[in-house]
Amino acid sequence: MHKIVIKGGVALAGEVQVSGAKNAVLPLLFATLLSAGQSEICNVPALRDIATAEALLNTLGATTLRVDDCCRIDATKIQSIEAPYDLVRTMRASVLVLGPLLARCGHARVSLPGGCAIGARPIDQHLKGFEALGAKITLDHGYVEAQTEGLRGAHIMFDMPTVGGTENLLMATALAEGDSIIENAAREPEIVQLAEALNSMGAKIEGAGTARIHIQGVSSLQPLNISVMPDRIEAGTFMIAAAMTKGNLLVRGACQQDQEALVQKMLEAGVSIDPEQDGLRVIGPHRLTPVDIRTSAFPGFPTDMQAQFMAMMALADGTSRVSENVFENRFMHVCELQRLGADISIDGHSAVIHGVKQLRGAPVMATDLRASACLILAGLAAENTTEVSRIYHLDRGYERIEEKLAGLGANIERVPE
Ligand code: EPZ
Repeated sequence: MHKIVIKGGVALAGEVQVSGAKNAVLPLLFATLLSAGQSEICNVPALRDIATAEALLNTLGATTLRVDDCCRIDATKIQSIEAPYDLVRTMRASVLVLGPLLARCGHARVSLPGGCAIGARPIDQHLKGFEALGAKITLDHGYVEAQTEGLRGAHIMFDMPTVGGTENLLMATALAEGDSIIENAAREPEIVQLAEALNSMGAKIEGAGTARIHIQGVSSLQPLNISVMPDRIEAGTFMIAAAMTKGNLLVRGACQQDQEALVQKMLEAGVSIDPEQDGLRVIGPHRLTPVDIRTSAFPGFPTDMQAQFMAMMALADGTSRVSENVFENRFMHVCELQRLGADISIDGHSAVIHGVKQLRGAPVMATDLRASACLILAGLAAENTTEVSRIYHLDRGYERIEEKLAGLGANIERVPE
């Protein structure tokens, strides 16, 4: 076990390259199951979740090979249709094999992911969509089993925009017989890339990125060759690092169009953000202005940036309110921020933050992926030393973050716990 030790107070400076997007790579890896051939996905970050996804592909019979930042997948032979509990419980995105296995093999058996730190995270919308396509769904011994003699296109209406649900149903309908419509679809940029990837394999998908997607089923798909988009959440995390440390950073790969809501709120907070070269130039102000945020599905403020933004508001010159409307338990970073001197109180789905002049270093504990990033950010701005433990959460979604931050002048290192 390791921990990260930070001596705060350094104004970050220089430039940082954002890695490939974790939440784009995962569905793309599983999309390769739709084609009996050799695919290649590049700009793949070295993350625990990606390793788990590759292990799952191997369990199903696909071979995977890492060559530099590329992953080569050969899904010619599928020898199993079962995603076992020990893999699914470590990475909920494993449920994204349901759509491809149903479409390719007519059968899938996936352990129910169970809840996670940030919420129950059910998959009822995924299952409702598969049933609309004619699949028979049964639940037993903690597994969901889906079977079909052949998926038939349907009109699918989600109760709420679901990223995973939209991705699973895009992959299933791509090979269904006839046309499908997905209403109330999620609109995240990662979904747009998945649709582009499927279309490059021979699928016929229109409207990805809007709430209404039209899919004309085809009989087979070619292998995939694609380079993954930059990670907008990693980019946002570095942008907030600049804002909190009065820094001056060029975040390469940051794309304003993919994070308009975050950029607008940071501009309101007094941060300077300008497009420069292939990224965004971010300059932190002397004192941050308090700003309220309400998380919602894209293009609203991303829930995956809520914890990081709260850390920034902990230093603002006044009171702000953060409302978490996507997940039911995504405030576990609050009590850890309080240990660093933040003045935050929780009121149901909202947190009220009274900004303080200075945070003070202390030992804190990560509880989930984005909470761990928030604590790193707070440690960078705090005086004295902050130690963040349980950083295995961090390694799920950030590639070598302490090296990248050290490259920007931060006094940060990973040490054995
Ligand atoms: C994806 O999770 C992301 N993960 C999450 O990122 C992200 O927070 C989330 O989308 C929202 O943007 C990946 O892409 C691998 P949802 P997902 O289905 O697909 C409810 C990170 O930090 N819901 O859009 O699981 C659900 O409970 C992770 O990188 C149902 O009720 O999220 C939640 O309240 C964390 N029934 C809301 O919808 C369903 O069948 C949004 O969930 C599906 C979802």
